[in-house]
Amino acid sequence: MEIKITKNTAPKQKPTDQSTLGFGKYYTDHMFIMNYDEGQGWHDARIVPYAPIQLDPAAMCLHYGQEVFEGMKAYKTVDGGIQLFRPEKNMARLNVSNERLCIPLIDEDFCVEAIKKLVEVDQEWIPTQPGTSLYIRPFIFAIDPHVGVHPAKHLMFVVILSPVGNYYPQGLNPVDIYVEQNYVRAVKGGMGFTKTAGNYAASLKAQDEAEKIGYTQVLWLDGVERKYIEEVGTMNVFFIIGDEVITPELSGSILSGITRMSVIELLKSKGYKVSERRLSIQEVYDAHEKGLLKEAFGTGTAAVISPIGTFEWNGKKITVGDGGIGETSQMLYDTITGIQCGRIKDEFNWIQKI
Ligand code: COI
Repeated sequence: MEIKITKNTAPKQKPTDQSTLGFGKYYTDHMFIMNYDEGQGWHDARIVPYAPIQLDPAAMCLHYGQEVFEGMKAYKTVDGGIQLFRPEKNMARLNVSNERLCIPLIDEDFCVEAIKKLVEVDQEWIPTQPGTSLYIRPFIFAIDPHVGVHPAKHLMFVVILSPVGNYYPQGLNPVDIYVEQNYVRAVKGGMGFTKTAGNYAASLKAQDEAEKIGYTQVLWLDGVERKYIEEVGTMNVFFIIGDEVITPELSGSILSGITRMSVIELLKSKGYKVSERRLSIQEVYDAHEKGLLKEAFGTGTAAVISPIGTFEWNGKKITVGDGGIGETSQMLYDTITGIQCGRIKDEFNWIQKI
Protein backbone atom coordinates (compact mmCIF):
# COMPACT_ATOMS: atom_id res chain seq x y z
CA MET A 1 0.00 0.00 0.00
CA GLU A 2 1.22 3.50 -0.87
CA ILE A 3 1.52 6.08 1.90
CA LYS A 4 0.33 9.49 0.76
CA ILE A 5 2.13 12.36 2.51
CA THR A 6 0.58 15.79 3.06
CA LYS A 7 3.05 18.14 4.71
CA ASN A 8 2.00 20.47 7.51
CA THR A 9 2.29 24.02 6.20
CA ALA A 10 2.00 25.54 9.70
CA PRO A 11 4.55 23.63 11.83
CA LYS A 12 4.46 24.24 15.58
CA GLN A 13 7.17 25.68 17.76
CA LYS A 14 9.21 22.77 19.19
CA PRO A 15 9.88 22.68 22.92
CA THR A 16 13.19 24.43 23.50
CA ASP A 17 14.12 23.04 26.92
CA GLN A 18 14.57 19.26 26.66
CA SER A 19 15.02 18.96 30.41
CA THR A 20 11.34 19.82 31.00
CA LEU A 21 9.76 17.62 28.33
CA GLY A 22 8.07 15.34 30.87
CA PHE A 23 5.86 12.68 29.32
CA GLY A 24 3.05 13.13 26.77
CA LYS A 25 2.82 16.92 26.84
CA TYR A 26 3.88 17.77 23.26
CA TYR A 27 2.88 16.31 19.89
CA THR A 28 4.67 16.64 16.57
CA ASP A 29 3.46 18.16 13.29
CA HIS A 30 2.19 15.00 11.58
CA MET A 31 0.29 11.79 12.24
CA PHE A 32 -0.27 8.57 10.34
CA ILE A 33 -3.81 7.38 9.61
CA MET A 34 -5.34 4.46 7.78
CA ASN A 35 -8.93 3.25 7.72
CA TYR A 36 -10.54 -0.15 7.83
CA ASP A 37 -13.87 -0.85 6.22
CA GLU A 38 -15.39 -4.29 6.05
CA GLY A 39 -15.03 -5.69 2.55
CA GLN A 40 -12.19 -3.32 1.76
CA GLY A 41 -9.64 -4.11 4.49
CA TRP A 42 -7.10 -1.53 5.68
CA HIS A 43 -6.78 1.25 3.13
CA ASP A 44 -5.93 4.91 2.54
CA ALA A 45 -2.63 4.99 4.39
CA ARG A 46 -1.61 8.61 4.81
CA ILE A 47 0.59 10.97 6.74
CA VAL A 48 -1.24 14.21 7.40
CA PRO A 49 -0.85 17.31 9.59
CA TYR A 50 -1.50 16.56 13.28
CA ALA A 51 -5.07 17.68 13.99
CA PRO A 52 -8.20 16.70 15.95
CA ILE A 53 -10.11 13.71 14.60
CA GLN A 54 -13.80 14.11 13.88
CA LEU A 55 -15.95 11.31 15.31
CA ASP A 56 -19.65 10.58 15.26
CA PRO A 57 -20.97 10.84 18.85
CA ALA A 58 -22.23 7.26 18.42
CA ALA A 59 -18.73 5.99 17.44
CA MET A 60 -18.44 2.59 19.10
CA CYS A 61 -15.03 3.21 20.68
CA LEU A 62 -16.61 5.92 22.83
CA HIS A 63 -19.22 3.54 24.21
CA TYR A 64 -17.67 0.09 24.48
CA GLY A 65 -13.94 0.70 24.46
CA GLN A 66 -13.05 -1.34 21.39
CA GLU A 67 -9.57 0.16 21.29
CA VAL A 68 -5.98 -1.10 21.39
CA PHE A 69 -2.69 0.73 21.48
CA GLU A 70 1.08 0.37 21.61
CA GLY A 71 3.98 2.32 23.06
CA MET A 72 7.40 2.46 21.43
CA LYS A 73 10.22 4.97 20.99
CA ALA A 74 12.56 6.42 18.35
CA TYR A 75 16.06 7.55 19.36
CA LYS A 76 18.65 9.88 17.87
CA THR A 77 22.04 8.23 17.98
CA VAL A 78 25.29 9.95 18.85
CA ASP A 79 26.24 10.04 15.14
CA GLY A 80 22.91 11.68 14.19
CA GLY A 81 21.15 8.49 13.01
CA ILE A 82 17.61 7.50 13.98
CA GLN A 83 16.67 4.10 15.33
CA LEU A 84 13.79 2.08 16.73
CA PHE A 85 13.95 -0.62 19.40
CA ARG A 86 12.33 -3.93 18.42
CA PRO A 87 9.38 -2.30 16.58
CA GLU A 88 8.39 -5.65 15.08
CA LYS A 89 7.60 -6.90 18.61
CA ASN A 90 5.22 -4.00 19.19
CA MET A 91 3.36 -4.66 15.97
CA ALA A 92 3.17 -8.38 16.78
CA ARG A 93 1.75 -7.54 20.22
CA LEU A 94 -0.71 -5.13 18.63
CA ASN A 95 -2.07 -8.04 16.63
CA VAL A 96 -2.35 -10.12 19.82
CA SER A 97 -4.46 -7.30 21.29
CA ASN A 98 -6.41 -6.97 18.03
CA GLU A 99 -7.27 -10.64 18.05
CA ARG A 100 -8.64 -10.48 21.62
CA LEU A 101 -10.71 -7.38 20.91
CA CYS A 102 -12.14 -8.54 17.55
CA ILE A 103 -10.18 -5.89 15.67
CA PRO A 104 -9.02 -6.79 12.16
CA LEU A 105 -5.35 -7.71 12.08
CA ILE A 106 -2.80 -5.29 10.66
CA ASP A 107 0.07 -6.05 8.29
CA GLU A 108 2.91 -5.87 10.82
CA ASP A 109 5.73 -5.19 8.34
CA PHE A 110 3.75 -2.48 6.59
CA CYS A 111 2.96 -0.78 9.92
CA VAL A 112 6.65 -0.80 10.96
CA GLU A 113 7.44 0.86 7.61
CA ALA A 114 4.64 3.42 8.09
CA ILE A 115 5.97 4.28 11.56
CA LYS A 116 9.48 4.68 10.16
CA LYS A 117 8.16 7.01 7.48
CA LEU A 118 6.25 9.12 10.02
CA VAL A 119 9.30 9.36 12.30
CA GLU A 120 11.39 10.38 9.31
CA VAL A 121 8.93 13.14 8.40
CA ASP A 122 9.01 14.50 11.98
CA GLN A 123 12.67 13.68 12.71
CA GLU A 124 13.44 17.24 13.77
CA TRP A 125 11.27 16.56 16.83
CA ILE A 126 13.44 13.74 18.19
CA PRO A 127 15.11 15.12 21.31
CA THR A 128 18.80 14.42 21.83
CA GLN A 129 19.51 14.91 25.55
CA PRO A 130 20.31 11.73 27.51
CA GLY A 131 17.10 10.16 28.82
CA THR A 132 14.90 11.68 26.10
CA SER A 133 13.31 10.08 23.03
CA LEU A 134 10.40 10.35 20.63
CA TYR A 135 7.51 8.33 22.06
CA ILE A 136 5.42 6.61 19.39
CA ARG A 137 1.78 5.87 20.12
CA PRO A 138 -0.01 3.68 17.55
CA PHE A 139 -3.69 3.03 18.35
CA ILE A 140 -6.74 1.52 16.71
CA PHE A 141 -10.36 2.31 17.52
CA ALA A 142 -13.86 1.47 16.35
CA ILE A 143 -15.75 4.25 14.56
CA ASP A 144 -19.04 2.67 13.46
CA PRO A 145 -21.86 5.00 14.55
CA HIS A 146 -23.74 2.23 16.31
CA VAL A 147 -24.65 1.83 19.96
CA GLY A 148 -25.33 -1.91 19.69
CA VAL A 149 -22.65 -4.14 21.20
CA HIS A 150 -20.92 -5.88 18.28
CA PRO A 151 -17.42 -5.98 16.81
CA ALA A 152 -16.89 -2.92 14.61
CA LYS A 153 -16.81 -3.02 10.83
CA HIS A 154 -15.14 0.36 10.50
CA LEU A 155 -11.98 1.36 12.36
CA MET A 156 -9.10 3.78 12.29
CA PHE A 157 -5.41 3.13 12.90
CA VAL A 158 -3.57 6.28 13.97
CA VAL A 159 0.03 6.93 15.03
CA ILE A 160 1.03 10.06 16.92
CA LEU A 161 4.48 11.10 18.15
CA SER A 162 5.53 12.90 21.32
CA PRO A 163 9.00 14.07 22.37
CA VAL A 164 9.44 12.82 25.94
CA GLY A 165 11.77 12.77 28.91
CA ASN A 166 11.30 10.59 31.98
CA TYR A 167 7.90 9.02 32.63
CA TYR A 168 8.30 9.58 36.37
CA PRO A 169 9.34 13.04 37.53
CA GLN A 170 11.90 11.39 39.85
CA GLY A 171 13.75 9.95 36.82
CA LEU A 172 15.89 6.97 37.74
CA ASN A 173 15.44 7.60 41.46
CA PRO A 174 13.51 4.80 43.18
CA VAL A 175 9.70 4.95 43.22
CA ASP A 176 7.43 4.01 46.14
CA ILE A 177 4.84 1.36 45.40
CA TYR A 178 1.55 0.56 47.13
CA VAL A 179 0.47 -3.08 47.00
CA GLU A 180 -3.22 -2.95 46.03
CA GLN A 181 -5.59 -5.09 48.07
CA ASN A 182 -9.07 -3.80 47.24
CA TYR A 183 -9.17 -3.32 43.51
CA VAL A 184 -8.39 -5.81 40.75
CA ARG A 185 -6.92 -4.95 37.34
CA ALA A 186 -7.50 -8.14 35.38
CA VAL A 187 -8.16 -11.86 35.70
CA LYS A 188 -7.23 -14.81 33.51
CA GLY A 189 -9.61 -15.00 30.56
CA GLY A 190 -10.01 -11.22 30.62
CA MET A 191 -7.92 -8.70 28.71
CA GLY A 192 -4.96 -8.22 31.05
CA PHE A 193 -2.46 -9.47 28.47
CA THR A 194 -3.58 -6.90 25.89
CA LYS A 195 -2.80 -3.23 25.57
CA THR A 196 -6.30 -1.84 25.61
CA ALA A 197 -7.68 1.33 27.13
CA GLY A 198 -10.00 -0.55 29.51
CA ASN A 199 -7.10 -2.07 31.45
CA TYR A 200 -5.81 1.40 32.20
CA ALA A 201 -9.28 2.73 33.03
CA ALA A 202 -9.60 -0.14 35.52
CA SER A 203 -6.39 1.00 37.20
CA LEU A 204 -7.20 4.69 37.67
CA LYS A 205 -9.08 4.51 40.96
CA ALA A 206 -6.37 2.53 42.73
CA GLN A 207 -3.67 4.72 41.20
CA ASP A 208 -5.46 7.87 42.35
CA GLU A 209 -5.88 6.59 45.91
CA ALA A 210 -2.25 5.47 46.09
CA GLU A 211 -1.01 8.84 44.83
CA LYS A 212 -3.04 10.63 47.49
CA ILE A 213 -1.10 8.77 50.20
CA GLY A 214 2.26 9.42 48.60
CA TYR A 215 2.87 6.42 46.33
CA THR A 216 3.92 6.61 42.68
CA GLN A 217 2.06 3.53 41.46
CA VAL A 218 0.30 0.39 42.64
CA LEU A 219 1.47 -3.20 42.45
CA TRP A 220 -1.34 -5.45 41.27
CA LEU A 221 -1.86 -8.88 42.80
CA ASP A 222 -3.74 -11.68 41.05
CA GLY A 223 -7.48 -11.06 40.93
CA VAL A 224 -8.53 -14.38 42.45
CA GLU A 225 -6.38 -15.20 45.47
CA ARG A 226 -4.95 -11.68 45.84
CA LYS A 227 -1.60 -13.26 46.68
CA TYR A 228 0.53 -13.47 43.56
CA ILE A 229 2.34 -10.53 42.05
CA GLU A 230 1.26 -9.47 38.55
CA GLU A 231 2.51 -6.06 37.42
CA VAL A 232 2.85 -2.42 38.42
CA GLY A 233 0.55 0.29 36.92
CA THR A 234 2.51 0.95 33.73
CA MET A 235 5.37 -1.55 34.09
CA ASN A 236 6.28 -5.20 34.47
CA VAL A 237 8.10 -5.93 37.70
CA PHE A 238 11.29 -7.79 38.71
CA PHE A 239 12.69 -8.75 42.13
CA ILE A 240 16.20 -9.87 43.04
CA ILE A 241 16.01 -12.30 45.94
CA GLY A 242 19.37 -13.79 46.89
CA ASP A 243 20.97 -14.63 43.55
CA GLU A 244 17.70 -15.18 41.68
CA VAL A 245 16.09 -12.54 39.46
CA ILE A 246 12.35 -13.24 39.48
CA THR A 247 9.56 -11.82 37.35
CA PRO A 248 5.96 -13.09 37.33
CA GLU A 249 5.29 -15.60 34.57
CA LEU A 250 2.95 -14.49 31.77
CA SER A 251 -0.19 -15.93 33.20
CA GLY A 252 -2.76 -14.45 30.84
CA SER A 253 -3.51 -11.38 32.92
CA ILE A 254 -0.08 -9.74 32.61
CA LEU A 255 1.19 -7.62 29.72
CA SER A 256 4.01 -9.23 27.78
CA GLY A 257 6.37 -6.27 27.97
CA ILE A 258 9.03 -5.78 25.30
CA THR A 259 11.40 -4.21 27.83
CA ARG A 260 10.60 -7.18 30.14
CA MET A 261 11.54 -9.61 27.36
CA SER A 262 14.73 -7.67 26.61
CA VAL A 263 15.76 -7.53 30.29
CA ILE A 264 15.33 -11.30 30.59
CA GLU A 265 17.45 -11.90 27.47
CA LEU A 266 20.11 -9.44 28.61
CA LEU A 267 20.37 -10.85 32.12
CA LYS A 268 20.57 -14.43 30.84
CA SER A 269 23.33 -13.43 28.41
CA LYS A 270 25.30 -12.06 31.36
CA GLY A 271 24.90 -15.29 33.30
CA TYR A 272 22.22 -14.20 35.79
CA LYS A 273 19.77 -16.79 37.06
CA VAL A 274 16.39 -15.52 35.82
CA SER A 275 13.07 -17.16 36.72
CA GLU A 276 9.67 -16.41 35.25
CA ARG A 277 7.48 -17.91 37.91
CA ARG A 278 4.65 -17.36 40.36
CA LEU A 279 5.82 -15.09 43.15
CA SER A 280 3.68 -14.23 46.14
CA ILE A 281 3.88 -10.91 47.93
CA GLN A 282 4.42 -12.92 51.13
CA GLU A 283 7.59 -14.43 49.60
CA VAL A 284 8.89 -10.91 48.91
CA TYR A 285 8.17 -9.82 52.49
CA ASP A 286 9.75 -13.01 53.89
CA ALA A 287 12.85 -12.41 51.75
CA HIS A 288 13.02 -8.87 53.08
CA GLU A 289 12.79 -10.18 56.65
CA LYS A 290 15.73 -12.50 55.98
CA GLY A 291 17.77 -9.72 54.35
CA LEU A 292 17.57 -11.39 50.93
CA LEU A 293 15.52 -8.80 49.02
CA LYS A 294 18.30 -7.00 47.17
CA GLU A 295 16.52 -5.09 44.40
CA ALA A 296 13.16 -4.53 42.78
CA PHE A 297 12.51 -2.63 39.58
CA GLY A 298 9.85 -2.02 36.98
CA THR A 299 10.34 -2.25 33.21
CA GLY A 300 8.38 -0.60 30.42
CA THR A 301 8.78 1.41 27.24
CA ALA A 302 7.70 4.62 28.93
CA ALA A 303 9.33 3.88 32.30
CA VAL A 304 12.45 2.10 30.86
CA ILE A 305 13.99 0.65 34.06
CA SER A 306 12.56 2.11 37.22
CA PRO A 307 14.07 1.05 40.56
CA ILE A 308 11.60 0.52 43.41
CA GLY A 309 12.58 1.95 46.79
CA THR A 310 9.71 0.86 49.05
CA PHE A 311 6.57 -1.26 49.12
CA GLU A 312 3.56 -0.96 51.41
CA TRP A 313 1.38 -4.04 51.85
CA ASN A 314 -1.10 -4.79 54.59
CA GLY A 315 -0.06 -1.70 56.55
CA LYS A 316 3.62 -2.69 56.54
CA LYS A 317 6.20 -0.67 54.65
CA ILE A 318 9.52 -2.21 53.63
CA THR A 319 12.59 -0.71 52.01
CA VAL A 320 14.23 -2.62 49.17
CA GLY A 321 18.00 -3.03 49.62
CA ASP A 322 19.31 0.28 50.91
CA GLY A 323 16.45 2.19 49.22
CA GLY A 324 18.76 3.47 46.46
CA ILE A 325 19.36 2.47 42.85
CA GLY A 326 20.53 -1.17 42.84
CA GLU A 327 23.60 -2.27 40.94
CA THR A 328 21.66 -4.52 38.55
CA SER A 329 18.95 -1.89 37.93
CA GLN A 330 21.64 0.65 37.06
CA MET A 331 23.43 -1.81 34.76
CA LEU A 332 20.16 -2.64 33.00
CA TYR A 333 19.25 1.03 32.57
CA ASP A 334 22.69 1.88 31.21
CA THR A 335 22.80 -1.10 28.85
CA ILE A 336 19.26 -0.86 27.48
CA THR A 337 19.37 2.92 26.97
CA GLY A 338 22.95 2.57 25.63
CA ILE A 339 21.77 0.13 22.95
CA GLN A 340 18.70 2.25 22.19
CA CYS A 341 20.78 5.40 21.66
CA GLY A 342 23.63 3.67 19.85
CA ARG A 343 26.22 4.19 22.61
CA ILE A 344 26.50 0.42 23.12
CA LYS A 345 26.86 -2.13 20.34
CA ASP A 346 23.60 -4.02 19.70
CA GLU A 347 24.66 -7.65 19.96
CA PHE A 348 21.06 -8.83 20.11
CA ASN A 349 19.80 -7.49 16.82
CA TRP A 350 17.19 -5.39 18.58
CA ILE A 351 17.73 -2.17 16.65
CA GLN A 352 16.12 -1.15 13.38
CA LYS A 353 17.68 1.90 11.79
CA ILE A 354 15.66 4.40 9.80
C1 COI B 1 4.41 2.21 27.65
O1 COI B 1 5.27 1.90 28.49
O2 COI B 1 4.71 2.49 26.50
C2 COI B 1 3.02 2.26 27.99
O3 COI B 1 2.21 2.10 27.11
C3 COI B 1 2.63 2.61 29.34
C4 COI B 1 1.76 3.79 29.27
C5 COI B 1 0.40 3.51 29.66
C6 COI B 1 2.35 5.07 29.61
